Amino acid sequence: MPSPADIPRDSNSASRANGAELVRFDKVTKRFGDVTVLDQLDFSVDTGKHVTLIGPSGSGKTTILRLLMTLLTPDEGTIKVDGDYLNHEERNGTLAKAGEKHVREVRKKIGMVFQQFNLFPNMKVLRNVTEAPVHVLGMSKDEADQRARELIELVGLSEQLDKYPSQLSGGQQQRVAIARALAMRPQVLLLDEVTSALDPELVAGVLDVLRDIAHTTDITMLVVTHEMSFARDISDAVLMFDKGKIVESGPPDKMFSEPEHERTREFLSTVL
Ligand SMILES: Nc1ncnc2c1ncn2[C@@H]1O[C@H](COP(=O)(O)OP(=O)(O)OP(=O)(O)O)[C@@H](O)[C@H]1O
Ligand SMILES: [Mg+2]
Repeated sequence: MPSPADIPRDSNSASRANGAELVRFDKVTKRFGDVTVLDQLDFSVDTGKHVTLIGPSGSGKTTILRLLMTLLTPDEGTIKVDGDYLNHEERNGTLAKAGEKHVREVRKKIGMVFQQFNLFPNMKVLRNVTEAPVHVLGMSKDEADQRARELIELVGLSEQLDKYPSQLSGGQQQRVAIARALAMRPQVLLLDEVTSALDPELVAGVLDVLRDIAHTTDITMLVVTHEMSFARDISDAVLMFDKGKIVESGPPDKMFSEPEHERTREFLSTVL
């Protein structure tokens, strides 16, 4: 197991004080047609913190992560990542729609693991993890290779370097996807129900890997999960969503043991 110092983090992370705001949504509204999915949403995530989004199906959790991945753009409001606007650029003191280059640069700070692992089927495990660092970040093949091996060890798959995704279990594939996301040295890792497509007996292994990453690295996490005991273990804060708004937020002990809002109690009774 690599020591925390070996775990990827942004090369200039030393210059970012722990606790500084890394992600900020400011009055973000997202509509699909005439349905408002996120409604004037404000929230922030500080560097190094782990924030979990909970709430009923359709409440907007995935939409938040897709906005951060720039797979969607907000209709109103702004998103900042590490002090930079994600979809906007400041020009002559006003905010304008960001150019593609700006979006690409800011997006590099974000890594995501999806419910469906989406590995490159024609590449072995090692190359799945080295491909983007070499081709997107311009990392040398040797450096990418070394880092990939460390990460693959971190997720417990050192024995599987030479396999293709189709030769792995779902849980193993998801652990490769986690290593692949970390290989890009994101400042914030987005996890969207990463165990919900897995056979039940494979869930614990993936959650163990994520617990380990949460507890031994300084990476910031924004997590959507229905695994409430996992959420309780790793979260600094839990945000309860309903209809595109935060109905309640707080530390996990409070949110899971003594939620204030009826909507939160009702939701938790369906998942706990
Ligand atoms: N591309 C899209 N086009 C139209 N409507 C969409 C689109 N993506 C999401 N929606 C709608 O937006 C709402 C929020 O969806 P979202 O996927 O963010 O919910 P969620 O909280 O992640 O739900 P779940 O727990 O089921 O994953 C839903 O009503 C959904 O149908
Ligand atoms: Mg979702």
